[in-house]
Amino acid sequence: MDRIRIGGGRPLNGQIAISGAKNATLPLMIASLLSAETLSLTNVPNLADVNTLSRILGNHGVDVTIAGKRAGESPDHGRTLRLSAAEIVDTTAPYELVSRMRASFWVLGPLLGRCHEARVSLPGGCAIGTRPVDLFLDGCRALGARVELDGGYVVASAKGGLKGADYVFPKVSVGATHTLMMAATLARGRTRLINAACEPEVSDVAACLNKMGAQISGIDTPELVIDGVERLHGTSHGVLPDRIETGTYAMAVAATGGDVYLTGTRADLLESVIEVIKSTGTQVEATNDGLRVSRNGAGLKPVTVSTAPYPEFPTDMQAQLMALMTLAEGDSQITETIFENRFMHVQELARLGADISLDGETATVHGGPSLNGAEVMATDLRASVSLVIAGLAASGETIINRVYHLDRGFERLEQKLAACGADIERLTS
Ligand code: EPZ
Repeated sequence: MDRIRIGGGRPLNGQIAISGAKNATLPLMIASLLSAETLSLTNVPNLADVNTLSRILGNHGVDVTIAGKRAGESPDHGRTLRLSAAEIVDTTAPYELVSRMRASFWVLGPLLGRCHEARVSLPGGCAIGTRPVDLFLDGCRALGARVELDGGYVVASAKGGLKGADYVFPKVSVGATHTLMMAATLARGRTRLINAACEPEVSDVAACLNKMGAQISGIDTPELVIDGVERLHGTSHGVLPDRIETGTYAMAVAATGGDVYLTGTRADLLESVIEVIKSTGTQVEATNDGLRVSRNGAGLKPVTVSTAPYPEFPTDMQAQLMALMTLAEGDSQITETIFENRFMHVQELARLGADISLDGETATVHGGPSLNGAEVMATDLRASVSLVIAGLAASGETIINRVYHLDRGFERLEQKLAACGADIERLTS
């Protein structure tokens, strides 16, 4: 299993190109199930999750091709994926595939919308919490589907097709919003999804669906109105920049000090994160093509932050912020309100010398001037990258085990950081 070795204590200086967003790419790929014509996605990051989902969609009959790079094109431009679901050959998403990647459960929506039936394995829990699917099932029922659980599978059918309806999410869910929005594009009549997730990735998928001929309004608001259409057609869509990757590198610079220009991204996608980083005493400046982040000398100030649905501070940045706050001058309080078990990084950060106490959903981080390198273990994607941030700032050597978690969501992480002066390498075995 690959490991990452970091020699800590070096400031980051230079430029990092931000990739397309993983959490937009995955539902965009799933949206290809809705049309018999080709969906072409550009700015697609080269990630393990994208490859896994390609195989899962292949099982349903989607033909996925990855266009090669043209001469002179840099690896920063992302890849082009062409997905053609001319015929859905199988409406079952089996356990052995869904258990590899939770988001593949979202095929439920488009399969139900287009084929009027779906049999999708329950995804099960994961390292960050129990993650139930009740909202998906209730929402599909609201659209007229008959939904049953059978042997660990969700079996859903809608003879004659789905019917538009109002559905009020009792809790904001990104995945259930994606799934029901996709299903409703091919339902008869109007659907209103109320208290829907407003994450930029949901808006990106909605914009792509509209290019495919869907009629979705209320994009960027918690009330999506979807007027069903007979069929969707092919289109080409560029994936929006990854706001979590952007925020992660911004926090890495805040941790190590230095001056880095993050290109190909947008400050408006992560205002709450930028505000928190600025409040630590780090400079963040929005530019035409991204963000410039710098910190020289001055100590980091502690913060009090709670995670919440967009536009508030994202749960996917909580671990990285915690790593940063271990270096602050004073106590920070970080509350996780989205996932009940997303603190696996706490014990690993402690191996580097961090002093963090947990009380329910709140972590108090007793900041100190230094961390010391150690051998640690990645537990999930964002937890892993919090260890990278801590390792970059720690003195001495840090070895991160189980880096396959990182490969699910961070493209060319070692290369991007090494280009800015970090002493980081992958140890392959
Ligand atoms: C998406 O997961 C993201 N995944 C997650 O990113 C992200 O952490 C999460 O949204 C929150 O922003 C992708 O986009 C692929 P939710 P999702 O449904 O959709 C509860 C990463 O590291 N809930 O918005 O699975 C749920 O348990 C990841 O990139 C129900 O109770 O998250 C949680 O407490 C990991 N019933 C809350 O809602 C349901 O039926 C929000 O989860 C569905 C969800």
